[in-house]
Amino acid sequence: MITGGHRGIGRAIAEAFTAAGARVAIADIEGADTAAGEIGRGTIGISCDVRSSTSVAAAVARATTELGGLDILVNNAGIAVLSPLHELSEEDFDSLVSVNLRGTWLVYKHAVPALINGGGAIVNIASLAGMAAFPLLGAYSGTKGGIVRLTEAMALELREYGVRANAICPGFIDTNMVQGSSDAFATITGGSFEQMVTAVQGRLGTPGEIASLATYLASDSASLLNGVAIIADCGMNLHRV
Ligand SMILES: NC(=O)c1ccc[n+]([C@@H]2O[C@H](COP(=O)([O-])OP(=O)(O)OC[C@H]3O[C@@H](n4cnc5c(N)ncnc54)[C@H](O)[C@@H]3O)[C@@H](O)[C@H]2O)c1
Repeated sequence: MITGGHRGIGRAIAEAFTAAGARVAIADIEGADTAAGEIGRGTIGISCDVRSSTSVAAAVARATTELGGLDILVNNAGIAVLSPLHELSEEDFDSLVSVNLRGTWLVYKHAVPALINGGGAIVNIASLAGMAAFPLLGAYSGTKGGIVRLTEAMALELREYGVRANAICPGFIDTNMVQGSSDAFATITGGSFEQMVTAVQGRLGTPGEIASLATYLASDSASLLNGVAIIADCGMNLHRV
């Protein structure tokens, strides 16, 4: 089950998983049915808002029933808001926490009974911004740092059930989220987002590059990895000057 799988990184993960032979349920607030139809191979589209307990419970129940169980959970649904921390509205702060941090926990909470039934893997999409603060992404960074800590707790608490939990911390990836951030960056700073990315990361990553890593982490090839947060950013985190 992949949250936020209708486009971007989640969509690439859904395509990579189905190519690897998995049956996938896409749980998304929009476009889930359409994406599932386009991917095919038995992919299920489920309308789900990760902010809502009722919605998440129904989505997990449907995925578990229709797939005949749940082996892999990818917590990918997320939003970003660019703003100086002190200018961020209370509504935007609450939305970031509600979707990114609370949503990750809520889907996990409802999926655990099915996951521990057969052993499996959890992949949480955090961010490089969860490993170090980014200017203009302060609250987002806070939620993503929280996801890294949640991942460690998941790993420790589910180890005895044979379920592994790991996080991916992408740098800048070419998706709608980054396109939206690009416009906001230019408005706030007057600078070019593209030039900033080129300076610090060299190039944008692709959703497929994150999907390859997610496929590895979800597979038995990663059997020794548990509770880690892997940075995928062309070495941007090493940039010091
Ligand atoms: N693009 C990047 O540079 C980048 C970098 C680091 C981390 N990430 C993370 O990767 C994940 C995917 O982001 P993306 O770049 O593909 O962005 P995106 O905006 O293309 O995709 C986000 C997906 O989440 C879904 N979603 C949003 N709110 C939801 C909700 N309440 N319930 C269910 N689904 C919801 C959207 O419909 C969409 O399908 C996010 O968690 C994001 O924070 C992205």
